[in-house]
Amino acid sequence: MTDLREVLARDLAAARERTLLLTDHDEPELLRQHTPLLSPLVWDLAHIGQQEELWLLRRGDADRPGLLPPDVETLYDAFAQPRAVRARLPLLPPVEARAYCGEVRGRVLDRLDRLGPDDDPFDVAMVVSHEQQHDETMLQALALRAGPPLLGGGAPLPPGRPGVAGTSVLVPGGEFVLGVDAADEPFSLDNERPAHVVDVPSFRIGRVPVTNAEYAAFVADGGYTDDRWWSERGRAHRAEAGLTAPLHWGVDGTRTRFGIVEEVPPDEPVQHVTFFEAEAYARWAGARLPTEVEWEKAAVWDPAAGRRRRRPWGDAEPTPALANLDGVALRPAPAGAYPAGASAYGVEQLMGDVWEWTSSGFTAWPGFAPMLYADYSAPFFGGDYRVLRGGSWAVGSAILRPSFRNWDHPIRRQVFSGFRLAWDV
Ligand SMILES: [Fe+2]
Repeated sequence: MTDLREVLARDLAAARERTLLLTDHDEPELLRQHTPLLSPLVWDLAHIGQQEELWLLRRGDADRPGLLPPDVETLYDAFAQPRAVRARLPLLPPVEARAYCGEVRGRVLDRLDRLGPDDDPFDVAMVVSHEQQHDETMLQALALRAGPPLLGGGAPLPPGRPGVAGTSVLVPGGEFVLGVDAADEPFSLDNERPAHVVDVPSFRIGRVPVTNAEYAAFVADGGYTDDRWWSERGRAHRAEAGLTAPLHWGVDGTRTRFGIVEEVPPDEPVQHVTFFEAEAYARWAGARLPTEVEWEKAAVWDPAAGRRRRRPWGDAEPTPALANLDGVALRPAPAGAYPAGASAYGVEQLMGDVWEWTSSGFTAWPGFAPMLYADYSAPFFGGDYRVLRGGSWAVGSAILRPSFRNWDHPIRRQVFSGFRLAWDV
């Protein structure tokens, strides 16, 4: 138990360090709303504390008295307050929001100290995941912010390998274990469970995600004006939203990244595309998007050993030599940057860099049971979503597993979203 407690205390601290760094701006900056799709950062800040208090100090019971008056607490209820209105709410000022988060955290650490051998600390891991997920959405908001750079250029990344982009690997058909059980991955969320055997026909999958250079060829080939490549819904959305290139691309071969205008790096995975753009590119390229089941098999199955790996590269924890995570680079790494991170099949850059659109809708695995936070997944099953896999450069390494399932509307692209191709065999 001591080890687990230490791991959770470390993960809580790492998440909080990120949160405080991302909200270390003056009050007007934190109150700005950059898009109706995302909250002002000061909302995220207090909401992080409110959820931590609810799940860890009040056992999920909102009727139990909390540290905030009920009329204040309700401002931070994500289901009660649509994102578009959050900037107009009488939110706690940043100083008070920080103090509240600090007060909650102090009490949580006291509780962690008292955990016994029979306590299940899943709820703490769930709260770590929640905070890290908000850290990523705060980065999405900051990526949409107009004005001079606020975050700098990001940490250096390893170089790519020429010739890797555009290549693919074969994943032979056969059974594998999809999903995970709590016994193996105690911090996995409800929608990743339970582990179950599925049979997957042979397919090919891109060794790395589609790059900016590859995507630019689609744009230059008139891909955005050729209806052959677009689904009916894709065409409608393309017209309505006026899509002509990925979000943040200029007309002159540049892009804007956290306030910095720079050349679009040719060998970096493309990001900020909708599902519909990914789907159109795939058709243009004579390919398709992988299903999320294919993606997971390519990522974790070790056919020689006949078992899942905990990570694509094996069972070791992520390091900066294996994957681009934790939001420090502020961009994806070039294609081929992580040969040591390859899966058993030789597929690279599965974790980190970009979330990868798949062709799959968001559904429950057979035997699904909701977790403590029962509304995390279940209300979204069967909705108008597509699943994204892998995790972007902005995801916290402590919360990411190859079984992790993200989902969003197919028209969204404020997400750090890219894709890789797949082919029937
Ligand atoms: Fe939340």
